[in-house]
Amino acid sequence: MTIRRVSGEEILTLSHPLRAYAFDASPKVADHDELRRTWLPYQEGSRTLVVEEDGTALATATAIPMRQNLRGRVLPMAGVAGVASHPLARRQGHVKKLLHHLLDEAHDEGQLLSALYPFRPSFYERFGYVGVPAPRTVTFPVADLAALLRAELPGEVTWGRTGTGYDEYSAFLDRCLGEWHGFAVFPERRRVWVRDDDSRWLVTARVDGVTEGLLTYRIDDHGGTVHADGLLALSPLARTLLLQFLARHVDQVDRVSVVVAPGELPELWLTDLAVVCETRVTRPDHSAPMVRLLSTDALAGLPAGAGRCRVELTGDRWLAGTYLLDGTTGHLEVLPGTTGTAGGAATPTATLTAAGLSALAYGVLDPAEVVVRGLGAVPADAVGELRRLFPRELPYLHAGF
Ligand SMILES: CC(C)(COP(=O)(O)OP(=O)(O)OC[C@H]1O[C@@H](n2cnc3c(N)ncnc32)[C@H](O)[C@@H]1OP(=O)(O)O)[C@@H](O)C(=O)NCCC(=O)NCCS
Repeated sequence: MTIRRVSGEEILTLSHPLRAYAFDASPKVADHDELRRTWLPYQEGSRTLVVEEDGTALATATAIPMRQNLRGRVLPMAGVAGVASHPLARRQGHVKKLLHHLLDEAHDEGQLLSALYPFRPSFYERFGYVGVPAPRTVTFPVADLAALLRAELPGEVTWGRTGTGYDEYSAFLDRCLGEWHGFAVFPERRRVWVRDDDSRWLVTARVDGVTEGLLTYRIDDHGGTVHADGLLALSPLARTLLLQFLARHVDQVDRVSVVVAPGELPELWLTDLAVVCETRVTRPDHSAPMVRLLSTDALAGLPAGAGRCRVELTGDRWLAGTYLLDGTTGHLEVLPGTTGTAGGAATPTATLTAAGLSALAYGVLDPAEVVVRGLGAVPADAVGELRRLFPRELPYLHAGF
């Protein structure tokens, strides 16, 4: 049994059949010419591994070299995708070995973070991942936006297809990456799929000539629904410009369904707006994303409150060790914490799993929640220190369009 990296045609012949069986309707004859045109080019630059025995692929997984904002710092991140094993080779430890191998390589390559969409969160919690919020889907009658039709707003919208508007779309995603905690982007060679696929309308909101928001969407029918993939707005004005654009569809469609960031409060967008806000998390298909730190280097320099705590990181091949986390300068310093007196005798000590530390770093769990979730042992004096070091913050892992 060997684990090796595959590229080009071998992705089609060894990895793709396992992925297709796991994630697509089947049985179906694979159209390799179509895959060579519409799928394979976008795999380039990603790391695809297979477990192979006697020429048969038993398991596969891919790491996409992405970038993600962690509390304002943009860091290299391994987006894990396409994890699948052969139906006759499941529960034999192949994927466990493969994920260790894949994340070892990502770690050695300098990826400091990792993220994925789990089929079952408990499976990935054992690999050190922790859940972050799922986006919300907001549905409302387009008629409820009518009040915006006559509003004078200082800004403009542009409208077209994702194919022609791609450059503005791509530049705006990079801007969101710099400004939005948790936001992640694909590498350019994969992101261009949105341009080449050209399957969505694209509307952008510009203020003083600068793009401040965008929406990609499709319309299912006359009298039907506008399905918007994601409303990305960096200001309330940009969001309102986009809603005003949607208001112009009042005599064309009945409803709007739009995906928004976890912290959005659409009930406050407009007076008389009747909204249904939904978060669906089901197994195995509608999952909330999961994330983890792959290195404590990800913590260095993050904005932090004035706390100080020793952390013993246990049970993890990438993070294990003892560190002193110091936020007294307003930015996190990660120092060796191995000596008994590191940080002073009175420095509190917490024991954390990789998932526990990742939950604190991404701002999704309070230290007291880390304890009740079984992700660490945090004595009362360390709870306050970790709270100061890692204030709660809501990440938005935007994926897809
Ligand atoms: C999920 C899947 C990838 C697991 O692959 P696998 O080769 O069976 O996994 P492993 O044998 O390496 O299992 C690793 C560990 O997870 C456990 N495990 C495996 N499948 C599990 C499941 N569905 N639920 C909970 N635990 C599971 C194993 O028992 C093993 O535990 P151990 O370390 O205590 O021995 C495989 O079943 C599959 O291809 N499923 C369909 C596609 C899919 O859902 N992919 C995941 C997309 S995120």
